[in-house]
Amino acid sequence: MKETTIPTAQPRPVADSQSEMTELVLPNDTNTLGNLLGGRLMHFIDLVGAMAAYRHSRANVVTASMEHIDFIAPVHVGDLLILKASVNRAFQTSMDIGVKVWVENAMAGTRRHVSSAYLTFVAVDANGRRLPVPPLETQGADELRRYEDAGRRRKQREQERERKRQNQTAREAQERVTV
Ligand SMILES: CC(C)(COP(=O)(O)OP(=O)(O)OC[C@H]1O[C@@H](n2cnc3c(N)ncnc32)[C@H](O)[C@@H]1OP(=O)(O)O)[C@@H](O)C(=O)NCCC(=O)NCCS
Repeated sequence: MKETTIPTAQPRPVADSQSEMTELVLPNDTNTLGNLLGGRLMHFIDLVGAMAAYRHSRANVVTASMEHIDFIAPVHVGDLLILKASVNRAFQTSMDIGVKVWVENAMAGTRRHVSSAYLTFVAVDANGRRLPVPPLETQGADELRRYEDAGRRRKQREQERERKRQNQTAREAQERVTV
């Protein structure tokens, strides 16, 4: 896909794009046991992640990948779901976003961590051409750790892509020999 060249803006702090969403889990969102469907939770995660990416890039964004998701504990009908998304790192046109999900017991005033996920969003213009995104300004040890972890994930993705490319090349060469 072609990339539109626009001068990259000033670095933006993580806090500027952090996004939060609250959802009440309704019967329509659940399976026959009354537990929230995994796919429905992924939809909420995608939405709140997109909000953070949209705020950081100030551009339309598309989901490139939902890379890792943990379903730590079941979520029940009637639960209050709290989702928080932060930009972990901005690359050229893509952003690594972390989403953490809790269930809140409003009466007891407690929160239980139920899920976490990493996603990548890519900024695009109205014609779907990729746009450069502003760099991320990290503050404090936690933001720096998340920034470095995002770099490691990207490196692993690139290594995996290269491994697949080499396997594909080897398979094609093998097919040419056997035909
Ligand atoms: C995501 C998309 C824009 C990437 O475009 P592309 O032309 O393949 O781009 P490239 O391979 O050159 O990569 C562009 C950027 O996306 C990142 N990227 C591409 N595929 C990725 C993946 N699977 N996971 C994480 N990042 C990815 C690249 O690292 C690169 O980041 P950078 O510019 O910050 O260095 C394109 O594949 C697309 O439009 N996909 C469909 C998106 C969509 O519809 N999502 C909703 C699904 S229903």
